[in-house]
Amino acid sequence: MSEIVQIHDKYFEKSISQEQLSQSVCALANRINKDYKDLNPVFVVVLNGAFMFASDLLKQFPSNCQIEFVKYASYEGECSSGTAKQLLGLKSELKDKHVVVVEDIVDTGVTIKALYALFAEKEVASLKTATMFLKPDKYKGSITIDYVGMEIPDQFVVGYGLDYNEGGRNLPDLYTLKES
Ligand code: IMP
Repeated sequence: MSEIVQIHDKYFEKSISQEQLSQSVCALANRINKDYKDLNPVFVVVLNGAFMFASDLLKQFPSNCQIEFVKYASYEGECSSGTAKQLLGLKSELKDKHVVVVEDIVDTGVTIKALYALFAEKEVASLKTATMFLKPDKYKGSITIDYVGMEIPDQFVVGYGLDYNEGGRNLPDLYTLKES
């Protein structure tokens, strides 16, 4: 049975349940744990959208690690602005560290490109990306997205940390914009 929510002026329909999301996060966590268990990685969480995914993912990482936060904004309403503005930068030294960027969604790839430019100057030992969602029909970037929770169609979504004008982030399931 479908479930509809209204956020501001738009309607969204439930498309992926929290059980399905949780299974994907678990599978992703297993892969990351295997690859990073002895590397004491630094997870760089991209706020605000990745907070829920990062929390679920990193609770399942049992080895030593560090968690940092950066904040970028590239979306206005349901459209990409085409540029990523840094709102909160990195505080700690990352030289020779194994860094994993934790993103909510890779869409156009503008944000990930800006982040990789930031890390290029930091002489990190390695750099990979984990994203909960990837829109493969939209993303045409050259940066490899190493860990992908779920591939989704090129439609605007909210929930599981993702917002529409700051609404809908708290929803535990994923909802897709209903075309009117
Ligand atoms: P990109 O820079 O275009 O790859 O998009 C990155 C950011 O835009 C994500 O971290 C989200 O915050 C936001 N974004 C992209 N697609 C969506 C969407 O479908 N719903 C909500 N936010 C999105």
